[in-house]
Amino acid sequence: MTSFIPNDKISEIKNSADLVDVVSEVVLLKKTGKNYLGLCPFHSEKTPSFTVSPEKQIFYCFGCGAGGTVFSFLMKQEGISFPDAARSLARKYGIEIPITHLSSEQKRLITERENLLSVNKEAMTFFCQTLLKSSEGKSAKAYLLSRRLTEKTIDDFHIGYAPLGWEHLVNHFSKKKIPASLVEKTGLILLKRSRGGYYDRFRNRVVFPIFNLNQQVIGFGGRVLDDALPKYLNSPETPVFNKSRSLYGLNRAKKRCRESDTVFIVEGYFDLLALHQHGIENTVATLGTGLTKEHIRLLKGFVSKFYLVYDSDDSGIKAAQRVIEIFRAEEVDARIVVLPAGHDPDSYLFNSGSEAFMDVVSKALGIIPFLIESAVKKHGLSVEGKIRIISDLKGPLALINDRIARSLYIQKISERIGVDEAAVLEKVRETSSRKTTISNQIYRFDKTGGKKKAPKEMGSKLERKIIEMMLQFPDAIPEVTRRNLLKHFEDEMLKSIGEMIVGYSGPFNQFVSDTITSIDNEEKKRTINSLAIGGDLWEKEGCNKLMNQFESIKHRRENTLLLKIKAAEMRDDKEELLALLKEKQNQARKSG
Ligand code: CTP
Ligand code: MN
Repeated sequence: MTSFIPNDKISEIKNSADLVDVVSEVVLLKKTGKNYLGLCPFHSEKTPSFTVSPEKQIFYCFGCGAGGTVFSFLMKQEGISFPDAARSLARKYGIEIPITHLSSEQKRLITERENLLSVNKEAMTFFCQTLLKSSEGKSAKAYLLSRRLTEKTIDDFHIGYAPLGWEHLVNHFSKKKIPASLVEKTGLILLKRSRGGYYDRFRNRVVFPIFNLNQQVIGFGGRVLDDALPKYLNSPETPVFNKSRSLYGLNRAKKRCRESDTVFIVEGYFDLLALHQHGIENTVATLGTGLTKEHIRLLKGFVSKFYLVYDSDDSGIKAAQRVIEIFRAEEVDARIVVLPAGHDPDSYLFNSGSEAFMDVVSKALGIIPFLIESAVKKHGLSVEGKIRIISDLKGPLALINDRIARSLYIQKISERIGVDEAAVLEKVRETSSRKTTISNQIYRFDKTGGKKKAPKEMGSKLERKIIEMMLQFPDAIPEVTRRNLLKHFEDEMLKSIGEMIVGYSGPFNQFVSDTITSIDNEEKKRTINSLAIGGDLWEKEGCNKLMNQFESIKHRRENTLLLKIKAAEMRDDKEELLALLKEKQNQARKSG
């Protein structure tokens, strides 16, 4: 997709866009020295560690390690692709992206996406008009009102009606001279198998348009007005509609999500509408699919606290078992809300009101505690019951890749049901040994462990410091070269970063944003990003001190080696001597 926009346009966008400007739309920034500081939009924090450098046009969060350029900021923030981020900036800064630079295949794809979106938009208008202005729309409107939606909700969410009959939309587009073959690609009309020609997918249904974060219509859901089947029908997957990445209502929910750092995830269109109408606007709905990793990543750009709302213990348990490892791996706080028997969010809110709803929410448990309590409730604490509880839980527990997290949960279970930890562990091991997942990830503290560990620190402190100096005080670069310091770096990654800096030929204030856009190595990228934006104020004297320190440590290392060699000679320890001489040779090669 990247190649859709010519490189010179990307540079133009990069040069025009101001990161401080773009970030300020979502984060309150305060100037501190040469940087700006605010609360990180990508994780939850009380003291600001999200730093923006106007000079380098990069950001970095010292709390969670998120960092990058104006493009990566938008991508992460809005959950969009690189070209979409570039296009949105181009729009904002009035830069025209010529389509003529593209290959014909690229042009076709771009135009196709745009065409599909505009067909969807046109269809939405048609459905809305039909609901509000036509006589056929009356029954649909009556249905929506009987579901206790207000005019405002209907209007806010652009709910419409697809009339009874086979060719209303087909004819509508044909009148507008829009090719049926194009409309077919949105899934709104389908090719008749027998006689040729097309027919409408949505017939006699209320229709819910589904928007992306750019307020474009990417698909539709439709519900019958009675008990006909299927009750719900959705647009199929298309080049603009991917259910595992889209959430109904997120376009309207994102603001409140960010403000409250919390999201409610429900399963139905009407559930979502009920919550919004009751003022709980930080709510999104999945689209007839389960919650995916992509959904969670998308939402993580807005919140760190997730409530999954289900209408029964059973559906809650099923979902919890399925998403347990996704949530753990994403390190977000997820709780399971189960409504009183016989209710879904829609019916519960209209029956009992938002206060009662929030009351249930306040009792929601985390995923594992929820699974434990559900199993206890189901099986009781008799000997038989305990065996069943462990057997219910061992599967979900085995899914947890992080061994420390897993053992904490096992401890919890053993305490709750009074069974020896080792016995529980054994059961879980039996299950997990059948899995092939390798778990060698770095353990991070969860919320209760206090501040998250910053991204792994590599290399000696001094070497990092020197790279930091080079990035933040480029005047010192020639001196680093003159003293040949990089040669003595032990950390290969830091060394190669140093060499990239020395070898960079463009205007230096663009080095960081250029480099982190072009290299693939995540760790390197992050290191450059974080070292470039640190808070130190550099001046010449401090730089010289630092370089002197580095050199004297190097000398000390060499001297120590010489002493060791002497000692080995005196002891006549041939083996040791050989090893030391080799090391010396190495050092000499470095200094040579
Ligand atoms: N769904 C679907 N296809 C179906 C049934 C359901 O895509 N055939 C999805 C829809 O997104 C629906 C959600 O699953 O909103 C929940 O379905 P369900 O619980 O059956 O319905 P409710 O949302 O309670 O619908 P209603 O209140 O309108 O009866
Ligand atoms: Mn319902």
